[in-house]
Amino acid sequence: MFSREVKERLREYETPFYLYDLGLLRATLEGALREADRYGYLLHYALKANNDPRILSLISSYGLGADCVSGNEVRRAVETGFRPEHIVYAGVGKKDKEILYALEKGIFAFNCESKNELAVIDDLAGRMGVVADVALRINPGIDPHTHKYITTGKAENKFGIAFSEIEEVVDMSGDLQNLNIMGLHFHIGSQITDMSVFGRLCSSVNAMYRWFVAEGFNITDVNVGGGLGVDYDDPDSNRIPDFENYFGVFAGGLDLPASVRVHFELGRSIVAQCGELISTVLFTKVSGEGRKIALIDASMTELLRPALYNSAHAIENLDGHGAPEEYMIGGTVCESSDIFARNLMIPAMKRGDLISIKTAGAYGASMASRYNLHDIPLSVFGDNGVLENV
Ligand code: LLP
Repeated sequence: MFSREVKERLREYETPFYLYDLGLLRATLEGALREADRYGYLLHYALKANNDPRILSLISSYGLGADCVSGNEVRRAVETGFRPEHIVYAGVGKKDKEILYALEKGIFAFNCESKNELAVIDDLAGRMGVVADVALRINPGIDPHTHKYITTGKAENKFGIAFSEIEEVVDMSGDLQNLNIMGLHFHIGSQITDMSVFGRLCSSVNAMYRWFVAEGFNITDVNVGGGLGVDYDDPDSNRIPDFENYFGVFAGGLDLPASVRVHFELGRSIVAQCGELISTVLFTKVSGEGRKIALIDASMTELLRPALYNSAHAIENLDGHGAPEEYMIGGTVCESSDIFARNLMIPAMKRGDLISIKTAGAYGASMASRYNLHDIPLSVFGDNGVLENV
C-alpha cells in the first residue's frame, strides 16, 4: 500500500480516519470485471459495504450496477452515477416511502422477500400506474460456513421466502397485476471462504429456476448475491480476491439457458482491502493479569466488526521497531467488547505511535456510529501509493 515516507504525511490528519487506496480499488474492479466478463455475468456493487461518495463514483464509472437496501442507498447510488436501470433494491424490510422513491426512479428490480411485501409493492405500483419488475428472494436453506451473524440463507434466518411459502407465492402471483416477476434472487451470507458453499448454491439455483419455469414463470434474470470472502489474516499477500476461482465455480455449477442473465452483488470483495483505519496510540498500561494493554484512539464506533463479530483484522504499528511483544489493543468506548486484538504479537507500542488496522474498507466506515458522541471518521485518499495533497 503506502510507503513509510508517505505514512509520515498521515500525521497531518487527525486520527482516527479511513485511508483508501484508489489504485487498489481500480485493480480490484478490473480483476472482478475481467473474470465476470468471461461468462457474461453482470456485476452489482453492494453499497452497504462502503457508501463513501468518492468510492461509489469510481465504482459506478466502471459500469457496475448497484445493490441497495434502503431508499437512502438508492438515492446515493443515483447521485454517484449508477444508472437507475442497473439498481436493485433488496432488503428484508422496505418502508412505503422507500418503495415509492424506487418506483419513481424506475430501478431495475425489487428483490422481494415475503408475500406481504409483494402485495404492498403491487399496491403501491398500482397507485402510481406502473408495473414493477420483481425478483423473488428465495431462502435456499444453505449453511455458508461463516460467522453466525452474517449467515442469511439458512432456514433459521429472517431473510428470503422460505420453501414452505413458495407455493403460496405462486398461488397469489396471478393477482399481482402491477408486478412482473422476472427474476430469482439468492444471497446466503458474507465472508464465505469455502467455495463448495457456492457450488451448493448453484444446485439450489438450478432446481429453483427449473421449478419456476415449470410453474409458467418467465424468469429472465437470476441474481446469486454476493458473499465472497477476503483474507483478513494476511491482507498484504492477498490484496485482490480470487475472482477467477469464484466466478469459475458458478460457471461450472450453474445450469441455466444462455438467455438468462446472471447477476452478482459483491460488497466486501470489492472494497475491503483498499481501506485501512489509521489510529494513534493514546496510552499503554498493564492489566490486573499483568498483560500489556495499548489504548488507541479508534474504537468500535469507527470499526464495529471486532466488537460485533469478534473478527480479527491485521494490525500494524507504523512506528514499531524491535521484537514483537504481546498486547491487548483496546478502543476508547466504555464497552468491554471494544477490543481490536486480545493477544497480538506486535513491536512495543508507545504513546503517539501510528497504527494501521487493515482490511477495513468494507463494513468499516459504513457501520460507524456516533456512540459516546464520537465524530464520524474522515476519508483520506491515495492512489497507487501516492497520497493526495492535504
Ligand atoms: N446482497 C445482499 C442481499 C446482502 O445482504 C449482502 C450483504 C450483499 C449482497 C453483499 O455481501 P458481501 O459480498 O459483502 O459479502 N457487516 C458484516 C457483513 C454483513 C453483510 C450483509 N449483507 C461484516 O462486517 O462482516
